This record gives sequence, C-alpha cells and structure tokens, in this order.
Amino acid sequence: MTFPPNFAEQGSLFFGADYNPEQWPEEVWPQDIALMQDAGINLVTVGVFSWAQLEPEEGRWNFGWLDRILDLLHDGGIRVDLATPTASPPPWLGHRYPGSLPQDADGRTLWYGSRNQFNPSSSAYRRAAASVTEALARRYGSHPAVAMWHVGNELGQVSFDDETAHAFRGWLQKRHGSLEELNAAWGTAFWSQRYSSWEEILPPRRAPYIGNPAQALDFKRFTSDELLSLYRLQRDIIRRHDPEKPVTTNLMGFFPGADYFSLAPETDVVANDWYTDPADPGSRELGALTHDLCRGLGSGRPWLLLESATSAVNWRSHNVPKAPGALRIDALSAVARGADGICFFQFRQSAAGAERFHSAVVPLAGADTRVYRETAALGKSLRALAPVTGTGVPASVAILFDWDSWWAAEESARPSERLRVMDQMLSFYRPLLRHGIAVEVVHPGSDLSRFALVLAPNLFLLRAAHAEALEEYAAAGGAFLAGPFTGVADENARLATGRFPALLRRCLGVSGEEWVPLAKPAAVAFASPAAPAGTAYFWAEDLRLDGARALACFSSGPLAGKPALTHHPYGSGQAWYVGADLDDAALSAVVMDAVAAAGITSVFSGGLPDDVEAVHRGQWLFLLNHGGVRRSVRAPAAGTDLLTGHRAGPDLELEPYGAVVLELSGSARNNVNDETIRTTHEIH
Ligand code: GAL
Repeated sequence: MTFPPNFAEQGSLFFGADYNPEQWPEEVWPQDIALMQDAGINLVTVGVFSWAQLEPEEGRWNFGWLDRILDLLHDGGIRVDLATPTASPPPWLGHRYPGSLPQDADGRTLWYGSRNQFNPSSSAYRRAAASVTEALARRYGSHPAVAMWHVGNELGQVSFDDETAHAFRGWLQKRHGSLEELNAAWGTAFWSQRYSSWEEILPPRRAPYIGNPAQALDFKRFTSDELLSLYRLQRDIIRRHDPEKPVTTNLMGFFPGADYFSLAPETDVVANDWYTDPADPGSRELGALTHDLCRGLGSGRPWLLLESATSAVNWRSHNVPKAPGALRIDALSAVARGADGICFFQFRQSAAGAERFHSAVVPLAGADTRVYRETAALGKSLRALAPVTGTGVPASVAILFDWDSWWAAEESARPSERLRVMDQMLSFYRPLLRHGIAVEVVHPGSDLSRFALVLAPNLFLLRAAHAEALEEYAAAGGAFLAGPFTGVADENARLATGRFPALLRRCLGVSGEEWVPLAKPAAVAFASPAAPAGTAYFWAEDLRLDGARALACFSSGPLAGKPALTHHPYGSGQAWYVGADLDDAALSAVVMDAVAAAGITSVFSGGLPDDVEAVHRGQWLFLLNHGGVRRSVRAPAAGTDLLTGHRAGPDLELEPYGAVVLELSGSARNNVNDETIRTTHEIH
C-alpha cells in the first residue's frame, strides 16, 4: 500500500481535525458538518476515544451513532480517517481484567479514569483491542466515507508488571540466544548481577541504586517492539477487511517511548502530531526539525500533520494562545517541509472532560471567533497550495538520529546530565535553518550517498556497521561532521575500550582519552582570524591530533592549548570533530564552513532575517514570517505567489505572520537548488 492511493485523485491538501461527535447531541452534527464545509475541511479523524460508546459492555456493540455520523459526513463530502479506539479502554476492561492495566516501575497500577491505561503486553488487553478492531473494520471496511485508518493514538505506553516481565524474557531470549550471552551483553559481572535463570530477569523496576544501563536499553527496545506489534495487530485486522486504504498511526516526533524508524515503515503514510509552544520562540525550531524528521521517517515522501492546535493547548503549565496569524504560519511551515495535510486537535472544543480548556476549530464561543475565522482562512490558503501536493523537499544535508543512541546516551550516571541529545540536535540544526538549507533527519543505517553533508550531533551509541558506512561515505567524497560524545558505546551500551571515538578515529584523525565536563565555561580560539571567539559552556574532551588539523583550541580552562575542533581530509572526502558544546555563533561558523566545504550554496548565505523561514518544496520557495514584526527578504528571483496568484519579488516585504509561496522559473530554481542537484552527481 502506498500513500496516497485514493488521496492522489483529490489533488488538494488534506485539511481537517479530530472530530468527537459522541460528546455532543446529534442535533449539533449537521451544524458541525456545515461549519466543516464552510472552513474547507475535507478530512476528519473519528472514533479515537469511542470504545466505551462502541462497546458499552464486553461483546455488546452499539454502532448506530457511528453509522449515522459516517453517513452524514459522507453526504457532506467530508472524508473520514477512522480510528481504532484502543488508546482508551472502557472502565469495564480494567475492572474485569486488572492485568490489562499498566504498572509503573514502583509496581503501582495506573487506573482508568483518564486514558492510555493499558498494558501493551497484556493478553486481556490485546484480545479486547483485536475484538473492537475486528468489529469496526468488518462494519466499515467498505464504507464510502472512510478514506484512511488510524490505529490507536500516540502509541507510547509502558508497563513493568509480571505479564510484561514474562514477555520481556521471551524477547531477550530471541535477542541474546542464551543466558550466557545475555550476561555478557549486560555486563552482569558488575555488582554481582549475574542471572542464573531466565525467571530471575525483570523489567528495570525501582531498585535501591543506579540500574544496569544495558538492561534499561533492552527494555526500551522491547517496549518499542511491543508497541509496534500492537500497531501491526490492528493494522493486519483492518487489512483483512479493507486491503485498499492507507493505514497509519499518529506519531509524536522526537518521542522517547518508541523507535519511529521501526514503526514508520509499517505505516502507509507518516502521520505526526506537533504542538508549537506559542510562549517559546525556539519552539518553531524544534517544529521544523520535527517536520524534517517526518520526511526522514518516510524516506522523503510527503506526510500528514495529523494533530496540531488552533491556539492554546491545556497541558502545559501556562497555556499561551497563538498570536493572530500564527495558526496559518505554523501550518504552512509543515506544508513547506513536506506535509500534504494539516489537521487539528480537535474540531469542536469539549465542554467537559480533561481537555475542556484546549483550543479547537470551533471554540465554545462558536464560529464567530478569531480562531474559527483563521482556520477557515487557512483552508483557503491550503486550497491555493494544492499544486504542491505530492512534491518533495530535496535536502543535501542529513542529520543522523537513532532512538537506540538517544536512549543509551541519557541513562543516568554519565559524565554530565547537561549534555542532552535533543539540545545537540537543535544546536547543529539551527544554523542550517537560519540559512534556509534543507535537512533530512535520517537513521545512521540509511543510504547517505544522496547527501553532500552528514552531521552526527551526538551519536553516543554507534554500531560497527554504521561507523563503517560513515567512513566509506567520507572516503568516497562526503563531508562528515561529528559532535561531542559520538561513537562512545556499542549496541549493548558497553563503552569501547581504547581512545575514543574508537570506531571513528581513523576517519576523524583525532582521538580522546577523557571527557571533561567543565566547572565553568572555557574560551575557544579559532585558528582562522575571521572566525568568532568561541565558548564551551559545560563540555570538553581531552583530544589528541592523530592526523587531523586543529581548527580551534581551548584557550582557557583545564584543556587550554588542546584541540576543540578538528578537520581531517579522508579519502576523497573530509571529516570534522567538535569536542565541546560550542556556543551558537561558534557552532554556526563551524557548520556553515562544513556546508561551504561540501559545495552547498545557499541563496540566503548571509542568513535569513529573524523569524523568517525559507524552504524549497517542489518548484516553490516558501518564505514565512513567524514573528509579529514585518521583515524584508530578497528572493533569488521574482515569481508568482501561489497564495495570491500575484507576481512578487525578488524583494519582498513579509507582513507580521505573513507568507509568500513563490513559484520559481526553471533557471531561478536551478540556482536555488544548486545544493540539492549537486549531491547525486558529484559525490559518487
Ligand atoms: C494529543 C492527543 C490528543 C489530544 C491532544 C491535545 O497528544 O493525541 O488526543 O489529547 O494531544 O493537545
């Protein structure tokens, strides 16, 4: 199944919301549909939290209401993304089958009365989830309203109970083969942790002191696999009744609870939930990086923003609404970065329940509101953007990310808790974002040959095969930039012996002997007089040059005089190593030097104005102003603005939260996309 089989005919972007009609009397439904039509909504996710309505008692079904709303939606021309309701089992399940409820690491049961109260390894839960999925898929498998299937919601549960322990042991047997191998992989010679029978092995429950990092890592992998198998269980049932339509589940971007590089390929379209934090100006950077991950998860294919907020959420401690205009700009940023659909949580604001203060398309105040009007205006913009549907966002820079490595890197009892994978990811990403250079976030095991530059901001855990691939990539002419604390551990979180980073030493031409978290910031001096003076705030590494050249050295602190940044020609390519947490300006200089050395040219080489985002998608250049101040920007050429149909540029004034989507002519496009075109031709 490839996405979008039936969607392609639509020839427009998807636009919609979660729709929970069961929270409202049926008289409201026709009004809802009229408002959807008015706003240009063409897709709604239905049934995500409807299990108790569909199966009020075990085995007693109540589909009448869903029949009626699906028919109404169909008559109204609104397509349905029909969800299996398995994220929130009804109280009867937990009451009758306590094993279906999860337990935390302290052995405490997490009860019903909220949502997500299921244990992914529970046989009672799996039986019930399969049964409701079966009933739903059988009944609606060929319903004309259904355009897509949505499994569960944000799969991410974890449990430490006995049934999970049993399943964990089975998983470990498959992974390690024998107890001897497990003991070796987990390093159980340490602290007398040797296991003498499988029955002794437990999930990493609360223990008196620091736990075993390899056990913790395996448990995270196991939990991720359990969630994947829950997805497959439901997907396969759906497939039996509806072999045609796409099946997906909504991911949560950089969510630590599941390895999306395993889960995403099992979906027909990558679908993600992203909630900008209007109170945090840096939030849009994480948003952009997350969107670039969505493309990486789907091998560059278009994806869906399946949930976002029209205004405020209610689950942060202080929930600032979106500024007027931000709703559209947030959505356009996702479209620019490859989304073929924009959906909100949710259509009509709930009056009751835990999310009653969460914004929606139709607020409690009704449709005569700023938020509804802005949503409808977005619907209009998305209709104008229909031509971008299905097009790609060519990227010449890859940023490597690996859930295994993230998990392993952030176990407790490490040199410094201040070094965090996501902070490093953003630090290396920011300069690229500010220069309008497209990035795809990919797994270290993916084919890197299509990229001119590969960044590994913090790849703590590095498999031998991936290290070899990186070496080969550089040797074959690629540019590879590695950040601090990369290549430290193997796949069992065991630290490599010898100077670090053991598997990358040859390629990087540098090696280290001690990680040096800093008591206070240290100055970093660049060899090039043009470079800024740098600072390492909390992290340094005691490095020795083994063939590389030092581009910058510490000039104060415990490592004064020693290299902080190195460059090494390798084969027909080159490699850099950054052994410090450099400040923004210094790191930006490093990343942009690597960009230039990789032959990547940006039309915004001087940097973009503050708040402005620039992305090429297909033949269009999206220029988006995320701030409340008007900004001037110079595009590479004039073109037609797809949003207005008017000629615009090359000098543009972007209004506060304003947007221009310029269609570039062939020659302007070639200039702009220099960076992307060269990758495949010149690297190999
Ligand atoms: C998502 C979730 C939705 C809703 C939303 C509120 O994480 O999937 O069901 O709770 O958050 O922002």
